Amino acid sequence: MEMADRIPEHVTIIMDGNGRWAKQRGEERLFGHSEGKESVRACVEYAVEKGIKYLSLFAFSEENWNRPRAEVEGLMHLMLKAIMDETPLFHKNGIRFRVIGDFGKLSRELRNRIEECMSITEMYERLNLVIFLSYSGKWDIVQAVNRFMKENPGKEIDSCGLEKYMATAGIPDPDLLIRTSGEERLSNYMLWQTAYTEFYFTDVLWPDFRKTEFQRALDAFAKRERRFGRV
Ligand code: IPE
Ligand code: IPE
Ligand code: MG
Repeated sequence: MEMADRIPEHVTIIMDGNGRWAKQRGEERLFGHSEGKESVRACVEYAVEKGIKYLSLFAFSEENWNRPRAEVEGLMHLMLKAIMDETPLFHKNGIRFRVIGDFGKLSRELRNRIEECMSITEMYERLNLVIFLSYSGKWDIVQAVNRFMKENPGKEIDSCGLEKYMATAGIPDPDLLIRTSGEERLSNYMLWQTAYTEFYFTDVLWPDFRKTEFQRALDAFAKRERRFGRV
């Protein structure tokens, strides 16, 4: 296959390093998160340009609720603002917006905005933009098992059956996972769905991750040989 043809269908990014980016500049952590929003926009635009079908972003983990209250509130406010600011971009580019995670912990205002944006972009299919918010991989598996058992009393769980109950049902597993900031771990992200995902780690901090860096990750992916257990 030509290198240009080997575009992953689903790219997922663990957007890490905002705090360190701000610290390097003698600024508050929130300054880094806010600059990180610009990287999100750049990556969304690039994904559209490259014909990537699914771009998913880890924005806030279940464990991140344990951060100082001011930072959590700042991040939630940023999320709300981002949805409101970017909705025209979704219409312009045919982007379907989705959020996955434990909605129970979000404010009513944010939840309403998310649900509204999900429903008004539902018919778009050029790019699926999926934000993981208040999400953890273990939470996802547990909620899937619980729902499976409730709806299939007495039945044994098999992996195909369980898949339908994962929060990501209907979304193909990620082909490529990118993590910025030099950390090389999953931090309780999509544990189930990354069984055969290619991993790409870079030292670049998230606010500095723009088109050029994204292209680098795609080039690295194009060179990988995926075997899925076969020879
Ligand atoms: C990633 O940046 C954003 C979130 C986890 C919300 P961090 O805030 O984790 O930045 P570092 O890792 O402390 O530099
Ligand atoms: C992972 O980053 C979560 C997100 C990027 C949303 P963290 O910064 O929370 O991960 P750890 O704590 O370094 O593992
Ligand atoms: Mg971090």
